Amino acid sequence: MKASPQSLNAVDDLENPSSEDDAMLGVRGSLKGRKSFSRFRTYVSLCVAFSFGVGMGLLSRYLLYSPSDNQCVELTTQATPLLEDIMISYGKLTYNGSFMTENIYRQSAAPEVDEAWEALGVNYRSVRIPSERAKEAGLRKDHVQINPKYGGGFPANVEGLHHLHCLNLVRQSLYYNFDYYKAKKQGAFKNDDDILKLHVSHCLDILRQQLMCTIDVGVFGQVWYTPSPGSVPAAFVDFNTQHKCRNFDDIRRWAEVRQLPKDVPEDFLQPPYSDSIILDGVP
Ligand SMILES: *[C@@H]1O[C@H](CO)[C@@H](O)[C@H](O)[C@H]1NC(C)=O
Repeated sequence: MKASPQSLNAVDDLENPSSEDDAMLGVRGSLKGRKSFSRFRTYVSLCVAFSFGVGMGLLSRYLLYSPSDNQCVELTTQATPLLEDIMISYGKLTYNGSFMTENIYRQSAAPEVDEAWEALGVNYRSVRIPSERAKEAGLRKDHVQINPKYGGGFPANVEGLHHLHCLNLVRQSLYYNFDYYKAKKQGAFKNDDDILKLHVSHCLDILRQQLMCTIDVGVFGQVWYTPSPGSVPAAFVDFNTQHKCRNFDDIRRWAEVRQLPKDVPEDFLQPPYSDSIILDGVP
């Protein structure tokens, strides 16, 4: 609908009581001014309608949008090629915080205990990260690569499984387990004591950094218990708390099925490039 100058005038008079001031303009100037004012009003209406539409769109997106677990993970973790293969999902889990009852992972050194830890993937061999996925994984040209004649790519390990490997080594080094594993002379215990000590303290400190990096901000309360039959109740910390936990087993399996062969040819690794950085010693 095209507004006639009169109707426009009427609206103007409603909106702008001082519009009679326009009478100060010449007749020609006034009409011309009103025509471009009409166009201006159309633009403003369109702009308002457009902005409203965009605003409502953004608002509904904001209100209705719920990101997937993987999108959240991508925003809050270091880039990793695992996310291309695995959907990270979170499930509710209650930690076993028992103080008095030792589950298999914390029992004194024994073959069944080692078996339980092994099943967590603590000693998996490296996987191959294909060259085209290396950059996003933080792997550079200076990193060790697999000889192209054996498929190329980079040997790599999953961080979280290394953390578990470390926890296992700390466990094996506990004062009540140490002699058992020292006598077995397997894994880290093949090394001399000074190297073994560095291995254990490296592991301890990696775990410190991991725990600080992903600091758990949950809280735990206390429960009542009777220290002995008939005694007055005493308080004890309740470690059996609820957690949102990642699908650990899917990740473990990813690493399990991709392990490089146990026995590889002598020239399996590609020698360093002429310009590769070679460190003076173990970093
Ligand atoms: C923790 O583990 C022990 C040993 O397996 C078991 O007896 C106990 O019921 C568990 N506690 C909880 C809260 O799951």
